[in-house]
Amino acid sequence: MARIELLVGTVYGNAQDTAEYLQELLQAAGHQVNLDTDPQLEPLLTAPPDLLLVCTSTTGQGDLPDNIVPFFYQLKERFPLMPQQRFAVIGLGDASYDDTFGMGGKQFEELLLELQAQPAVASLTLDAASAEDPFEQTRRWSEQLLQAL
Ligand SMILES: Cc1cc2nc3c(=O)[nH]c(=O)nc-3n(C[C@H](O)[C@H](O)[C@H](O)COP(=O)(O)O)c2cc1C
Repeated sequence: MARIELLVGTVYGNAQDTAEYLQELLQAAGHQVNLDTDPQLEPLLTAPPDLLLVCTSTTGQGDLPDNIVPFFYQLKERFPLMPQQRFAVIGLGDASYDDTFGMGGKQFEELLLELQAQPAVASLTLDAASAEDPFEQTRRWSEQLLQAL
């Protein structure tokens, strides 16, 4: 069983719905998943989870939702190298935003890579403008993630 911290950045709730669905899938596979919409850096550094899972939308012009901005800047300013930390990212966006498509998730992925954390699987970007079912995409992605755990 892996201990997973699932950090959520959301404005209108899409990322929260995705994260809750993912939490159910991972819990059903026997993992312990703590979903957090107001994450703090210190407890994560004191007791690092087996997997840091970020599920965040994009707002403004490629910006992170307000609820996860403080955590992002704590991480950026303190800059704790975490070569043992595995992570995975789901980014939500809308391809009609062109240049800033999925930038919320990409900002997290880039920062975690700079901190030398290890990607467990390739990131998933969910496009609100696509006809594909985001829950089905999330379910398929979770199968890859479960194999990597
Ligand atoms: C005001 C606003 C700005 C947005 N800006 C972007 C953006 O820059 N890039 C992007 O990919 N999606 C952008 N989106 C699309 C959202 O990321 C997308 O609809 C997502 O599913 C919202 O998830 P949430 O409800 O968890 O916030 C924007 C949406 C809104 C309403």
